[in-house]
Amino acid sequence: MKQALLLLLLLLLFLGLALAQGVEALWGRTCAQCHGDKAQGVRPYPGLASALPFFATPEGRRYLVLVVLYGRKGEAGLMPGFYQLKDEEVARLLNHLKDLLRAKGEPFSPEEVARERGKNLTPDAVKRP
Ligand code: HEC
Repeated sequence: MKQALLLLLLLLLFLGLALAQGVEALWGRTCAQCHGDKAQGVRPYPGLASALPFFATPEGRRYLVLVVLYGRKGEAGLMPGFYQLKDEEVARLLNHLKDLLRAKGEPFSPEEVARERGKNLTPDAVKRP
């Protein structure tokens, strides 16, 4: 009985590790080339410390989802949109960024991402709140 419990715990631990690695790999493929592994930025692209306050307000959170879905054009250059990602992937990437920045705020859910679909925005229409 005790052994079964231990086994279950180990299994959960591995599952957790696998999931964590999953989002790191996804971040590595989609965001790190410009923003770096730790969101520190890769020249000439910006680090994302500036995004920290957005996690805590409804308008800020909406902005973060819009940036990932539709991209953003600003002084620092052009970020393409990642509309092709699944809602769940966008939520996980934003939660990963939240962890990297140690930002306050609720975790993102796939539903919060889904709400911003279908707007057909261009990167220069995505403005900071
Ligand atoms: C091709 C390079 C590139 C890639 C890839 C990229 N970004 Fe960006 N990102 C940018 C640039 C450039 C800006 C800044 C535009 C500006 O405001 O001047 C930016 C801005 C942002 C912002 C807004 C920051 C703020 O303070 O307003 C967030 C959030 C963000 N990116 C997240 C991501 C995430 C998450 C990914 C992966 C899904 C990603 N980016 C992939 C180039 C990139």
